[in-house]
Amino acid sequence: MDIVVQTTGIRKVYGTKSNLITVLEDIDFAVQEGEFVAIMGPSGAGKTTLLNILATIDKPTSGSVRINGTEITSLSDEPLSEFRRSKLGFIFQDYNLLDSLTIRENIMLPMTFSNKYDVSTDLRVNEIAGKLGIGAILDRYPYETSGGQKQRAAAARAIIHNPTLVLADEPTGALDSKASMDLLSAFQLMNNEYGTTILMVTHDAFAASYCDRVLFMKDGRLFTEIVKGDKDRKWFFDRLVMTLSNLGGGSYDII
Ligand SMILES: Nc1ncnc2c1ncn2[C@@H]1O[C@H](COP(=O)(O)OP(=O)(O)O)[C@@H](O)[C@H]1O
Ligand SMILES: [Mg+2]
Repeated sequence: MDIVVQTTGIRKVYGTKSNLITVLEDIDFAVQEGEFVAIMGPSGAGKTTLLNILATIDKPTSGSVRINGTEITSLSDEPLSEFRRSKLGFIFQDYNLLDSLTIRENIMLPMTFSNKYDVSTDLRVNEIAGKLGIGAILDRYPYETSGGQKQRAAAARAIIHNPTLVLADEPTGALDSKASMDLLSAFQLMNNEYGTTILMVTHDAFAASYCDRVLFMKDGRLFTEIVKGDKDRKWFFDRLVMTLSNLGGGSYDII
């Protein structure tokens, strides 16, 4: 198995000389190809900061981030945006769909941006949308769909260009429990059927229990990890809740 993400000694400091805040310190971890990994931790732990660094939206103060073997911290603007467009997929809490485009057009956006659109794109959109349960709403506009459908459309958009890595920040944060379950099942399907490597930040133990492995953060550092292995989701969920309570942040700590 190839290593998709490898971070070494990531450190992130905000502020000016007289008032420095260290938000991330000594972040070393790896994600293998085909893994579905969550990063959990209380509000303020540094989860979003870490995800934004992996997403190439933010840079670490020091340390190394390799994605698919490329040291992204040393790329200049132009190769960096090309890297982001072709290798990464994103899912945010608030969907980030364009209101003026249909669901189908939204899903196709990464192909349009990278000029990879051809006749096979339509087939791929239909196939992925069908598998994620949004095949019937492709010609609707976002305002004509539910939050859960919007987020599954965002998930389809995140994988349409077959990225190396999909990054999700609190993707279930705005969804009710049924829509959350549908989205998490969609993530598992993306992971199992398309082999998509997914790294998801969440403060919700229920969402994290769908993953293979969970990394815990506290005060800007990685604290521990728990692997699901061949145990069931209920066992995993209970372990996650227990670990979170040891960390000092409740499992339903509100961001
Ligand atoms: N641009 C910034 N300037 C200064 N501090 C920041 C900035 N962005 C985030 N922080 C601080 O970094 C810490 C971690 O934030 P964040 O990564 O959003 O945590 P999480 O996603 O785990 O809730 C918080 O204490 C937050 O206030
Ligand atoms: Mg956050």
